[in-house]
This record gives sequence, C-alpha cells and structure tokens, in this order.
Amino acid sequence: MAKSVSTVKRRGLGNTARVDAWWLQPTAVFLGLTAFIVYSTWAAFQNAHYEWGPYLSPMYSPPLFGEHGWFGAAPGWWPAWLPFSPAFIILPFPAGFRFTCYYYRGAYYKSFWADPPACAVGEPRHMYRSEQKFPMILQNLHRYFLYFAIIILGFLWWDAIQAFIWTDTEGGKHFGMGVGTLVLLANATLLSSYTFGCHSLRHLIAGRRDNVSKGKLSFACYNCVSNLNKAHMKWAWFSLVCVGFTDFYVRMVSMGVWTDLRFF
Ligand code: FES
Repeated sequence: MAKSVSTVKRRGLGNTARVDAWWLQPTAVFLGLTAFIVYSTWAAFQNAHYEWGPYLSPMYSPPLFGEHGWFGAAPGWWPAWLPFSPAFIILPFPAGFRFTCYYYRGAYYKSFWADPPACAVGEPRHMYRSEQKFPMILQNLHRYFLYFAIIILGFLWWDAIQAFIWTDTEGGKHFGMGVGTLVLLANATLLSSYTFGCHSLRHLIAGRRDNVSKGKLSFACYNCVSNLNKAHMKWAWFSLVCVGFTDFYVRMVSMGVWTDLRFF
C-alpha cells in the first residue's frame, strides 16, 4: 500500500498561493478600527459638547460624572495631574467588550499584527502561543464585559426614550421628535443587534447544554441569538460606526455647527 506523506511548508511573511486581493479586508479593518480609536479618544478627551436638549452622546452614558452627572463633576479619587472626562469612566467597558469580542479578535489579529495577515498567508512568527497564556488569556474576560455591555445598553435605550421628551422654555415636558431622536434610536438598535448576537451570550443562554432545545423559552432565545450571531460581523461594524456618528451628531448640534431638524 502506498504511504501518504504530507509536509507542512513554512511560509515567510505575506507568502501565499492565493491570487485574490486577500490584503483588502485586513487593510480596511486596520483603517476602520484606527479611525474609530482616534476619533473616540479625541471625543473622550473633549469633556464638552456631549449633550444637547434631550440628546446624550453614547460615549458619555450613563452620566455618572460631569456637569449634570449623578455623582458630581468628577470623582474625588481622580488624580489632580490627570485631565478628567466622564467618558474615561464609561468607555473602558464597551472598549473591553469589543476588544475581547470573538469577531474583532480574528479581525485585528490579522490586520494589526499579521497573525496571520489572512487565511493561508505567511505570518512573521513561527510559534503559536494561543490564548492560554498571559496576556492573551485575558481575552477570556469577554463574558464579564458582556454583563457590563448589557447594563450600558439599558442606559442607551433609556437615553433613546428620553430623546422623545423635550423641555420648553417654561420647563414643561413635551413629547417630540427630532433627527437626533432617530439617531439615538438607531444607535440603541444596532448596539442591541451586536450585543445580543454575542457568542458568549449564545453559550450562556443554552449553548452550554448538551440538549439546547431543553426548555422552550431558552431555546427560543437561543434561536434569536443564533440568528443575530450569523451576521455578527455586520452588526459589529454597523454599531461601531453608529456609536461614532451619534457622538459626532450630538457634538455638531451642541456646537451649533448643525441644526437638529425637529419633526414635531
Ligand atoms: Fe462579539 Fe461577544 S463575541 S460581542
């Protein structure tokens, strides 16, 4: 009987038999994530123009601290030498959630540290450390970031509802709607589609069981999460862009650069 021998050939960085434009997706991911990181860092440092009328930027929600913050302008323990912004308290949680997300991990491992640059393309290192050793083992914190993400999502839905409640010059409250209301609604909806399609949530709801269909309610929830999970990459990008745009919209209206169109 003929003996079949397979050999694995090491490739150098970027070496591949692929003839398609494999570099396109990692490049687009690199540019998209870099743009978001630069913008959100800049927006977080502003500590201004994050609210207008009934609108609140998602990067500053919930309003724990700040001009109208629940606990005052800044926490007493904040070091005096460090500039403060309420966004510094909020953003680590959604950032940690995205950083440890299964989709983003696959995307930025390729685009930021070429590990590998794309499927079947040579990478710069010859060993695989996996995610079982420090620091990559911290990626397993994803399920805990999920809990915080769900809590923050609740506040963002509250903000979207509040965007329907307008205060007139005498202090009376009225039901109303502007373009910003729709922007905040879209933001909460897209973030929900991203968060509730999370792989960890799917596991928590029923995926960890041997028999996922045991329990009607949990099976129905499992199917909903699975359906959202199918397009997790799309929800990840749509929601990321929408978070950035929502902050930008509130900022532009607050600065008087844009006028919010009021429908009623
Ligand atoms: Fe992407 Fe959990 S896997 S949000």
